[in-house]
Formats: sequence, C-alpha cells, structure tokens
Amino acid sequence: MSSFDLVIKGGTVATSGGVTTCDIGVRGGRIAALGEKIAGGDRIIDAGGKLVLPGGIDAHCHLDQPRAKGLASGGAVMADGFETGSRSAAFGGTTTIIPFAVQHRGQSLRTAVADYHLRADGNSYLDYAFHMVVSDPSPAVLGQELPALVQAGYTSLKVYMTYEAMVLSDRQILDVLATARELGALVMIHAENFECLTWLTERLEAAGKTEPKYHATSRPMAVEREATHRAIALSEIADVPILIVHVSGREAADEIRRAKARGINIRAETCPQYLLLTEADLDLPDFEGAKCMCSPPPRDKASQGVLWQGLKDGLFDILSSDHAPYRFDANGKKLHGMRAPFRKVANGLPGLETRAPLLFSEGVVAGRIDIERFVALNSANAAKIYGIYPRKGTISIGADADIALWDPEKRVTICNADLHHNVDYTPFEGMVVQGWPVTVLSRGDVICDNGELLGAKGRGRFLECGPPEPVSRKETAWT
Ligand code: URP
Ligand code: ZN
Ligand code: ZN
Repeated sequence: MSSFDLVIKGGTVATSGGVTTCDIGVRGGRIAALGEKIAGGDRIIDAGGKLVLPGGIDAHCHLDQPRAKGLASGGAVMADGFETGSRSAAFGGTTTIIPFAVQHRGQSLRTAVADYHLRADGNSYLDYAFHMVVSDPSPAVLGQELPALVQAGYTSLKVYMTYEAMVLSDRQILDVLATARELGALVMIHAENFECLTWLTERLEAAGKTEPKYHATSRPMAVEREATHRAIALSEIADVPILIVHVSGREAADEIRRAKARGINIRAETCPQYLLLTEADLDLPDFEGAKCMCSPPPRDKASQGVLWQGLKDGLFDILSSDHAPYRFDANGKKLHGMRAPFRKVANGLPGLETRAPLLFSEGVVAGRIDIERFVALNSANAAKIYGIYPRKGTISIGADADIALWDPEKRVTICNADLHHNVDYTPFEGMVVQGWPVTVLSRGDVICDNGELLGAKGRGRFLECGPPEPVSRKETAWT
C-alpha cells in the first residue's frame, strides 16, 4: 500500500496566493502533501499542461425552492434540485454550493432549514452549506432561532429589500443586522427599492407596457442605487459588515466604492449575467427575452466595464451564479403564457455550470484578471467570507482535496444540450469560451472526468460554517 490514495502530478497549481508547479498527494480525501516528485500513490493523475485549481464555490444559487405564496409569478417550479443543480455545478468546476433555505412568512426558520436538509440529503454530488433567508424576523426568530442556528453552522443569511413576500422594512433590517452583529453572522442584502419598482410596474402596466423588456424599465439603476446606498447606511448604523449580492451595474458599484473609501467594511458580489448580458437581451422576440429576466436586470456595456474593473481591483469579493432555474415552458417562464406581463414571469436564470468557465475565459484568457484573482473570486474569498476556509477554497495541506484540473486551451461553444442542469436553455448559448475544467475532484474522489459523471449522487455532505471573515465588532452606544 502506498502512502497516498492519489497523486496529481506535474500540474501548474494556483491558489489566490500564487502559482507553482508541484505534485499533490491526497490521503483520506484531504491534501496530505505538496512538493516536487511525490512518490507512490494508489492512483496517479497526470496533470501536465493543466491548471490545478481549488474547486469553485458557488456561494449564491437557488435550488428546489418552493415559491412563496401570493407572488404574481407564484406557481413556477424550479427546474433544478440538489441532484441536477450540483451535477451541473460539478461539470463547471465547482465543488461546493451554498444555496438558500428560505423562511416564508409565518414559518419558523428552524423548520425552513430542516426542510432544506430533506431536499439536499441523499441528492447532492457536492458538499453544501446553507444561507438562510429571513423574511419574518419575529422575536422568536431573532431571539431564539437565529442564535441556535448560527451556533449550529448556519452563519450567513439573506434579507430582501424587494419582493412582496420577502421585503423587510428598514427597521426590520436593522433588527436583523443588530442580531447578526451580536451573533457574528453575515447578512447578505438584495438591494432594490420595492416601493419604487412597484410604482413603476403599475405605471408601465397601466400604459400596456408589459413585455419582458419592461422588466428592466421597472427596475432602473436608480432603484438599485438607492437601495444599495440605504443598505450601506443601515450597515453603518448597526455597525456590522454586510454583503451586497448580485450588483448589476455602475451606480450601485459606485455606492460600494464610496462606502469602502470611507472605511466601511462591506463585501460585494456580482454575477456573469451582469458582465455578459445587457438590457437588450430582454427584448428578444417571441418572449425569448424572458430567458434573461432576473432581478436586478442586466444593464449596459458601460456597466459591464465598471464591474470588470471592480472584479480586478477588489471592489468585488466573489462572483456567484445566482442560479435561479426556471424552464422556458409552462412550469417556468411561460406559466402565465407567452403574453404574460413581466410582473408574472419568474425571475432568475441558470448559471451554475457556466459561472467559472465564463469568468476564466472572459477574465483570465481575455487578460482582465490574473489567475490568482480568478481563484480568489471563484473560491478562496467565498470560503473565507462564509467560514469554510481553509477546508475549502485553497490547495494546502489539510484542506479537502476539492480540485479542478483545467485545460486552459480547450475551446467550448456553450450549448445547452451539453450542460447538465435541468433547464431547457442557457442565456449564454453560442458563446465561445477558452478554458474548461476537464477533471473535477471532491474530497479526493474524481466526480467528473472528460465529460463523464463518476461521482455518486448523495455523496455530498453538509458543511457547518464557522464565523464569517471579518466580522468587526466594537462597542456602540446602543448595545
Ligand atoms: O432574479 C433573481 N435574481 N432571482 C433569484 C432570486 C434572488 O433575488 O436572488
Ligand atoms: Zn436576490
Ligand atoms: Zn439569488
């Protein structure tokens, strides 16, 4: 018997901290040795000519989420649960997913989390953690449930400034932030002004402007800019860091940059759709624009440039997919028919599998970011921010052997028929990317190899998250 279960030989190993050529010895699912010419190994993988990167972490995706009752688009069914969602993510070089356990109003948060475990258990190919969505911050949730849940490894939660079924008032957000501060949890905020977009939606509907393209008109940049500014102010008042999710364009990015310049500890995320799509994609004929409807909506070319700059210079910490999978059929986007007003069309688009390849191709290959920054955005930062580092997000001794071997030369034309999710379209159809993860390991098991699925369904484990990094706390007058 050799001293390693597996040795990955001769690859170019990159982490967020640097690049080197070395072998990796894996034992018991963890990285046990890094060095030149590691001998032995029950199995050898020749990584010559490949980039050997930490597996990706998609820290914002929606799987198997039942829709809240009472939504205009209510009834649309998510096409991906943990099985197809994690499978698809794995083929795109992602080895950890963090979807949302959503509390519906009147529901206990613990019950919501227990429900998500039932949905995930036995189904995921990948390790997973949960963010919680708090839509009903009752005294019981804030005083009893959240403390117990944070202690049990659910250390991040999302609140919404929009969506009828989820929106919290500023006062409620402050209550959640103060609780997160007390517990050392991280609050993610969906920043769009609900009152303003509802007012605009009603005006547009009254004028008969209901096609998918008006979804973008109903949620202009000012709607997001105002909410981003307010979210930052609330975080400042509560004196606790927040993470602004799915930032779509320049004005919201500017708010975050200004806040950071004032020394406010704030984190930010953007997504491939905001780098590659524009508002014009919502105007495709035959209702096809509905495929690109998400909230906030894609903006314009100028915003794409601002977001790339922010990915490069550290304004953004993570790039997530915000995978929200609805098929282009009568269970999904077309639930209310091809002439449905945009208000009734389910928001969201798929992207678990394409997230990392798009960032690699448009980022690294196109010369916008270097490989270390790619690793930071693809995995290391999410692992740190959500309290699973260094177990995930790096290649170091003791870390889980979650590794993706990328062929940096491989050219792929993105085609939905080749993807592994259960959605019947991709908004990135026809885009040509260079660089693709050809072999993917999770805890030392090869789960995908040259287009073949080798991992077993249900092998993924729940990850208890530790404290998010960094959560600064100082005394305030109100504590
Ligand atoms: O349109 C989107 N982004 N759908 C997913 C839900 C969310 O707010 O992230
Ligand atoms: Zn959101
Ligand atoms: Zn989302």
